[in-house]
Formats: sequence, structure tokens, C-alpha cells
Amino acid sequence: MTIIAFSGKGGTGKTTLAALSVKYFTEKDDVTLAFDMDPDAHLNKLLGLPLAKTIGNVVDHIHKEKKLELEPKKPVDVSDIEYFYSRVMSDVLVEGEKTDLLTLGKPSSDIDCYCPVFYWAEHAVSKILKSYKRPYAHIVTDCDPGTEIFPRKILDRIADESGIDYIFTVLDGSRMSLDTAKDIVNEINKKHSKFGKVYGICNRVDDLKSQQLIKEVALTSYDLEVIGFIPTDQEIARRSLMNQSMLGLTGSSAFESMKKALKSLHI
Ligand SMILES: Nc1ncnc2c1ncn2[C@@H]1O[C@H](COP(=O)(O)OP(=O)(O)OP(=O)(O)O)[C@@H](O)[C@H]1O
Ligand SMILES: [Mg+2]
Repeated sequence: MTIIAFSGKGGTGKTTLAALSVKYFTEKDDVTLAFDMDPDAHLNKLLGLPLAKTIGNVVDHIHKEKKLELEPKKPVDVSDIEYFYSRVMSDVLVEGEKTDLLTLGKPSSDIDCYCPVFYWAEHAVSKILKSYKRPYAHIVTDCDPGTEIFPRKILDRIADESGIDYIFTVLDGSRMSLDTAKDIVNEINKKHSKFGKVYGICNRVDDLKSQQLIKEVALTSYDLEVIGFIPTDQEIARRSLMNQSMLGLTGSSAFESMKKALKSLHI
């Protein structure tokens, strides 16, 4: 099983590159779990999957059941966590042909703390990794921008249980995106969990001289290896605007470059 996480500065292309990676695995005929950890969830659209409910919605629902604002459905002999897990499996996990999708989402403003979502999600993910009937060949996680993901413990839980093989920090050629990558590396270095190697992957910098410069600056000033350059691809922009899945891309230079980057790591 290969587990990869896409992180980095906002708007650099994390979700797009995560979707292109899922496309790569799908074409290899591998069953993949796509996990959208961004509260502002969009990965489902790029994978052409319906968004059922999010983990945040389920937390909300159970909260309302407990306050008797909704009819309680939890059987008395079932623990809260078991009930939550069963709701995640029935309401949140979207099963695609080759790719399943799990979406974290966020709770409504009724819940003034975001913690229950992370707490419950941590357990659900752990259980899915341990016992879900469909074995995944790969897990691709799309993180929210910056380092917000790290104080939550979901990535740690995945890292502890299965190890995260690679963290790709998406760069857009700016110093800011390199600084965010550095912050991400610093966060990971504080952890004792099994986080794999962090690589930079640069999106939409098409000029060869600029690519060379970014590669050098990343390596010399940030100790960050850039494993690939994903070109601007108007078809990606068009499909995204028309709400069409990235899985249907054909003859895409961006997809070919993403594939090359993954293959260079023997993924
Ligand atoms: N290689 C590319 N060629 C053309 N358009 C691209 C490419 N990569 C990303 N885009 C476009 O750039 C925009 C931002 O991409 P995306 O949503 O993947 O970024 P993100 O890092 O996930 O953003 P956020 O931080 O908000 O989650 C989208 O409209 C996407 O279609
Ligand atoms: Mg995104």
C-alpha cells in the first residue's frame, strides 16, 4: 500500500495533483481510497464522485440526536463510536468503481468546537484502515492549505498505523510556497509518527530557466528536492470549470508529468 499526502500553500494545485494521482492509480487498476481532509472540500468533483455527507455532517447529526432535536437512532447496545463508525460507512464513504472517497468536511456553527470532528474522524479512519472489507492498494490524501492539518491527529493516526510514504508539498514557484513547504517539514520533524519523505512538486511553472532556479533554491536554501514539474494544462482548467472529472483527461501533459514524478519514486 502506498500512502501519499498532498500539502502546501493555498491554491498551488494540491487537489488537482491529488486527483491526477488517483487517475494514475485507477489506470493501473488499483483500488484507492481518496481522503479529502480540507474542510473546504472539492476533491469529489475532480474525481467525478457524488459528495454524500461529510464526517462533519455526521458529527452534527449525532449531536442533534443527542440533544433530541432529531430522533435518536442509536441502538442502546451500541457504543457512540460504533454508531459513528456505522454512520460514516453508510453515509460518508462513497464507493466508486476503483476509488472510494472519504470527506472530512466541517461541522455546522451549532458545534462551537471543531475537535469532535477530528477526534471521531481519527477513530473512523483508523477502523477503516484496520478492518474495512475493501483492501486499498493506495491512499491519497488532500490536505487543507498550510500547516493546519498537523495539530489535528488524523494524519498522525494514519502514519502510526500504516506509515505515510510520501508527503508532496506543492510549489507554485513563489518563495511563499517554499516557506510553507519549510513549515510543513518543520511540523513533520517534530513528530514521532512514521511520516515518510517530503518532496516538492512544482505546478504551473512552465519556463525551463525558472524551473532550474526553483530546483536550485529549493535544494540549497530549503533542503527540499523537487521531483517534478507539472505544466499548465488548459484542459484541466476547462474540465474543472465545467465540473468534469480529471479521470476523463486524455493526452494531458500535466497528467503525464504527474505520472513521471510518481514513477520516479517507484510508485
Ligand atoms: N496544471 C494545471 N493546469 C491548469 N490549471 C491548473 C493546474 N493545476 C491547478 N489548476 C487550477 O488551479 C486552481 C487551483 O487548483 P487546486 O484547487 O487544485 O489548488 P489547491 O492547492 O487544492 O487549492 P486550495 O488551497 O484552495 O485547496 C484550480 O482552478 C485548478 O483547476
Ligand atoms: Mg484543494
